[in-house]
Amino acid sequence: MTTNGSRAILAPVSIPTVSVPGHPEWPQLSAQEEADLKEKIKGLLKKMNGVLVAHYYTDGKLQDLAEETGGCVADSLEMARFGTEHPASTLVVAGVKFMGETAKILNNEKRVLMPDLGATCSLDEGCPIDEFSRFCDQYPDHTVVVYANTSAEVKARSDWVVTSGIALPIITHLTEQGKKIIWAPDKHLGNYVQRETGAEMIFWPGSCIVHEEFRSVALSRFRRLHPEAAVLVHPESPQSVIEQADVVGSTTALIHAVVNREETSFIVATDKGIFNKMRKLAPEKTLLEAPTEGEGATCQSCARCPWMGMNSLQNLLLTLQEGKNEIQVSEELARRARIPIQRMLDFARTMKP
Ligand code: 13P
Ligand code: SF4
Repeated sequence: MTTNGSRAILAPVSIPTVSVPGHPEWPQLSAQEEADLKEKIKGLLKKMNGVLVAHYYTDGKLQDLAEETGGCVADSLEMARFGTEHPASTLVVAGVKFMGETAKILNNEKRVLMPDLGATCSLDEGCPIDEFSRFCDQYPDHTVVVYANTSAEVKARSDWVVTSGIALPIITHLTEQGKKIIWAPDKHLGNYVQRETGAEMIFWPGSCIVHEEFRSVALSRFRRLHPEAAVLVHPESPQSVIEQADVVGSTTALIHAVVNREETSFIVATDKGIFNKMRKLAPEKTLLEAPTEGEGATCQSCARCPWMGMNSLQNLLLTLQEGKNEIQVSEELARRARIPIQRMLDFARTMKP
């Protein structure tokens, strides 16, 4: 990994190999079947005083339903915030497990359900608590900053939790206080944050299997074919891809760029699920998928997170009917994990205009 002098070190730890499932294919629904499913889900949400909170990478039908029923579609920072502010007694989280766990940690008195508890994340899977904790113990003078895409146990071992939407200002703030930082688990996001802030950081060597697949050589070729397009990149992507970006940011930041920038076409390097919201907010703009094929391509995901794909209308209905797939986080673990998450939310509040 490229580092900035001696200030960034990739931790010498070996991480578990993450087994990546195929992208689930759900049976096609007729318009009538889809409408019936949605009606049943709406009825059950109402009956159980529940609210649906969905991530931008989930199926567009789930995103639309979340909005139609007074829930929200958001990035991981806003999902966490929304759950704490909404009065519902059940939070139904369509996303991946760390998002459900974060909701439970922040709202221990609420019930948190997810369509599939097996919907995990390569970053979370690649950062087991025992190894991570041993690693942190070696650097007792470092502040431990973990990305939200981690288990409750890893969060409980940290000083700060960050999401991609708030990582830069928090690391800038810590650097101004002279802190040295352990960063986990995404090495690409960590490397980007280090380059932007000049912070002294040691990285855990994890990565997102979706964003790691964007190919820089193919992207530069694609840009030559579309010189008018602005390039939007999520910072979980490799440095060689980020370096070609006009905008680097969280899912929300990339959506805002499509809406607010003057270009009329965009090359988008993040999960395809985000196109649903982008098309809704800016139907007149042209959206192009950044290439995941080309030299050295593995295309395990082809820009579709297989774990996000485990959420569908069908298994959402089953979850609500059976009240199953409840997220469990013990009160003691939640108490410890809440401290670094709350620190992030409090910091975010100070940034609001
Ligand atoms: P955001 O916080 O930008 O929504 O990212 C979450 C995520 O998992 C991206 O892969
Ligand atoms: Fe995790 Fe990557 Fe999927 Fe986001 S897109 S949930 S970081 S595997």
